[in-house]
Amino acid sequence: MSGSFMDTKARPILRWVWQRCQAGRNRFRSAEAVFASIYRKQKWGSGPGRFCSGGGSSQAENAAAYLRLIEEESLARGFAGRAWLDLGCGDFQIGSRLRPLAGSYTAVDVVGELIAHHRAHYRGLPVEFVHADISGGAALPKADVVFVRQVLQHLSNGQIARALQRLRDYPLVYLTEHHPSAGKLRRPNADMVQGSGIRLDGGSGVCFAEPPFSIPPGELELVLEVPVVLAGVAGDLGVLKTWRYTPGAAAWTP
Ligand SMILES: C[S@@+](CC[C@H](N)C(=O)[O-])C[C@H]1O[C@@H](n2cnc3c(N)ncnc32)[C@H](O)[C@@H]1O
Repeated sequence: MSGSFMDTKARPILRWVWQRCQAGRNRFRSAEAVFASIYRKQKWGSGPGRFCSGGGSSQAENAAAYLRLIEEESLARGFAGRAWLDLGCGDFQIGSRLRPLAGSYTAVDVVGELIAHHRAHYRGLPVEFVHADISGGAALPKADVVFVRQVLQHLSNGQIARALQRLRDYPLVYLTEHHPSAGKLRRPNADMVQGSGIRLDGGSGVCFAEPPFSIPPGELELVLEVPVVLAGVAGDLGVLKTWRYTPGAAAWTP
């Protein structure tokens, strides 16, 4: 078998087989086991710190517009200086930039060793780091505003549905997801097994207004859409979309 055949034909097939094997394993593992292993194997890259959550947070271009948006929204909608909750905080590169705008800041992640690392590393920072699963288990901390950025895209539809149910307890939520670019989103909410990958390869992404989630249009507004940038990777990498979600009739009253 020639090298060029390996490159053009066999590699995608091997990758598909490998992904199927991984999905088979991850289906029966806890979220903590799956995401702890992703960090240990550095599947989202390696940064200066021990944990890296990928280019969505470490690449400045991907974070800049989001940070600007949240600052503007916090002033316009009156949640600057209030209680903020960051669900799936990851390497905390985004959270550490948002922290100065909040009154109190709670950062939650399902990976215990990452939370232990942050408690030690950010000892001087007034942040409460909480080890919890957003899709089940212990109740989540109370807050005035919640951020869930590039977390749900890694979960199955069942896990997302359970997390969205819990988010209904909050007045204001910002949801950020990686989607295919305009016109390339063919199959909204194709189900997947939790893991490091997302729905992009299958022309899919998490669409909150579509079944099985079906959040009513009045509760959901797309407030940001920016192209994804990754150093050294050319071409169309999709877009990062952020929605403002105001669950139920609970309008935000500062
Ligand atoms: C790609 S990282 C995103 C990190 C951060 N939000 C950002 O924007 O940079 C996804 C994070 O979600 C966490 N996570 C995945 N499933 C979770 C769950 N069920 N409960 C809490 N955190 C979860 C992972 O451990 C990981 O740290």
